[in-house]
Amino acid sequence: MSSHGEPIPMTSHPVTGLRGQAEVPGDKSISHRSLILGAMAVGETRISGLLEGQDVLDTGRAMQAFGAEVTNHGGGAWSVHGVGVGGFAEPENVIDCGNSGTGVRLIMGAMATSPISATFTGDASLNGRPMGRVTDPLALFGTAAYGRAGGRLPMTVVGAAAPVPVDYTTPMASAQVKSAVLLAGLNAPGETVLREARATRDHTERMLAGFGADVTVSDEDGHRVIRLQGYPELKPQTIVVPRDPSSAAFPVCAALITDGSDVLVPGIGLNPTRAGLYTTLQEMGADLTFENMREEGGEPVADLRAKFSPDMKGIEVPPERAASMIDEYPILSVVAAFATGTTVMRGVHELRVKESDRIDAMAVGLRANGVTVDEDEDTMIVTGLGPDGVPGGGTASARLDHRIAMSFMCLGMGAKAAVSIDDAGPIATSFPIFEPLMAALGAKLVRTAP
Ligand code: S3P
Repeated sequence: MSSHGEPIPMTSHPVTGLRGQAEVPGDKSISHRSLILGAMAVGETRISGLLEGQDVLDTGRAMQAFGAEVTNHGGGAWSVHGVGVGGFAEPENVIDCGNSGTGVRLIMGAMATSPISATFTGDASLNGRPMGRVTDPLALFGTAAYGRAGGRLPMTVVGAAAPVPVDYTTPMASAQVKSAVLLAGLNAPGETVLREARATRDHTERMLAGFGADVTVSDEDGHRVIRLQGYPELKPQTIVVPRDPSSAAFPVCAALITDGSDVLVPGIGLNPTRAGLYTTLQEMGADLTFENMREEGGEPVADLRAKFSPDMKGIEVPPERAASMIDEYPILSVVAAFATGTTVMRGVHELRVKESDRIDAMAVGLRANGVTVDEDEDTMIVTGLGPDGVPGGGTASARLDHRIAMSFMCLGMGAKAAVSIDDAGPIATSFPIFEPLMAALGAKLVRTAP
């Protein structure tokens, strides 16, 4: 089942010559944060280029439930009239975050230090994901959480009435955990300190500074340390959301593995904490050109051209790169199938607690399409078959996971035979225009009968 409707089985047929310009939607991470920080500012934040995927729409609805005014002006232009730090009202009903781990975890943080309660739920995928990683540090502020076994949703979070600031070291590389703690720290007195052993995407820190919070980042004893002063008055902002490098990965990688392709993706965000895939692809020998490098809205941006790359080689992707490309391993495992030699992806255990167990989902689906994959808890190894060697012809389960669904649709474009998925519905969570955008480049995606 898709997250919000009947399953949509889909087949991707082999094609040649993907060509044209791929205007991918706005960045999902920045879109969530724009709505949440906009809701915590005093006055009106204007956002252009917001991702209008289901995940972000669910976060917008949640912000309304907490008392902010969220308005869609059309064409990706939105405004949020915020209630200020500490101004959240208690929601009248259950907050449904759909498929979005980022949405629920950041919102839990944002409300955790207000004297209100909220009950959160989601779809079958989200309700199976661990929330303890967020509620454990929130408990240090004085927040209580009552969920199902294993810290799963549905869960009621009781905000701390008299929060205390915390000094917390994240036990896993997670921007969601980091962001939940920092958002909670906004409505706590004094200084909240967050330490991470491995840098994760830094949009929350950048945007908090942009909204006027007193936030500093430093290196201390090999940790990245973020210090945030509580009770700022966040000033409303005008935000231009860059295009999502994680969504761009699909047309880019489809071009690399499809004979005769030449695709330009304009204006994609290339924040270094997000760009690990592109470094990896270049190491493999992908034909990528970054044009017109510039800065927009405080984020590095470029136009990226990707051409068919028949000479890619398998490589070892180092574990320290994992956080900067954590959402891109599924599509990298597809590209690896078209390279010559073996691609070894280490340090990827976090993939097991995403929208699906992404190591298992990719391994099972790739094997069904004639690709050899080895795995252990923390590693995925794909044996490349070269540019003409991937059989395809199989069906994969999308497992309520947008990135799994899109990865297998890209596999079909370069394979010898069509590749099918049981449900393309989840794609709408992050890339609602995937189907027409890929079709305009020359992909052949066909909705098939269930
Ligand atoms: C995100 C952080 C990552 C990523 C997710 C978006 C964010 O999750 O997988 O798609 O916007 O903070 P983790 O923080 O759990 O690694």
